[in-house]
Amino acid sequence: MSLQLCLIVYFRILLPLLSCYLISHVCTAQDFFGDKKETHFDLLEAAVSLIDDKNLYITDGYDGFPSFGFRLGSEVKQPYRMYLPEKLPAEFTIVASFKPLSVRTSYLFAVLNPFETVVQLGIRISDGPSSNQNISLVYTNSDMHSFSDEVAKFTVPKLAKRWSKIVIRVTTTEVILYMNCNELSRQRVTRIPPELVFDTASTLYIAQAGPHIQEKYDGLLQTLKLHAGYPLDLVKCNNDFDFLSEESSGDHDLISGSGEIDLDDVPVSYTIIPLVDLTFVRRC
Ligand SMILES: *[C@@H]1O[C@H](CO)[C@@H](O)[C@H](O)[C@H]1NC(C)=O
Repeated sequence: MSLQLCLIVYFRILLPLLSCYLISHVCTAQDFFGDKKETHFDLLEAAVSLIDDKNLYITDGYDGFPSFGFRLGSEVKQPYRMYLPEKLPAEFTIVASFKPLSVRTSYLFAVLNPFETVVQLGIRISDGPSSNQNISLVYTNSDMHSFSDEVAKFTVPKLAKRWSKIVIRVTTTEVILYMNCNELSRQRVTRIPPELVFDTASTLYIAQAGPHIQEKYDGLLQTLKLHAGYPLDLVKCNNDFDFLSEESSGDHDLISGSGEIDLDDVPVSYTIIPLVDLTFVRRC
């Protein structure tokens, strides 16, 4: 375990910080404090701090970088405010790369109201028509509704046992799903309110939606990020990885063939890394 801890700390925290430092044009002070507002929030940091959970494991991801594995008993639960903004911007984008190990109906993540009965924000995978599956964006004003509202629902080919990268782009009028680098579908959606304000006591769950909504995720999650707005390079995939391939071996080179560093992995908002992570650095 301690080697894995070192790896995860290295890849998820130290390496991105280093790349950030090296590619200084990406991480200008303007990005952090100013006008461009390109902040993003890495929800998997909520799992880093709980890596002692025996139902959480670290394994190879699609590109050789470590990925988190969640067994059904995993319990990644944190006050949402440690990892998300107080209020969701009117336009935002969620990026996830994941490999479910079963076709269970499950949540990749969910922000729950204080009673843990309503999902305010989340991504849900469920059964679709015939052998397909559905991916939905759940977005609920929990002051108004007592059910979790799937505001957009997209049918996709079966997700189980292979890697997928999805980008869900939410604009003021539409929700657009990109899958494995291509736009798959868009739906007109009017969200109320346009800027969701979470309750101060809301909880962020990763790989489930809490004890009342028994929809637990069993599988791997490598990326789970929320971006304000729509950063332009989000949809592109690295040339050296074909998401549509069958089982990927996970032994690709760590640096892609083109010599480019994946800017998506450079943390623009690393100031929100919780202090608790530092204890893991020391344990290495
Ligand atoms: C899956 O999504 C499609 C498209 O929104 C919808 O028509 C269908 O009813 C959904 N299937 C299930 C089982 O919910």
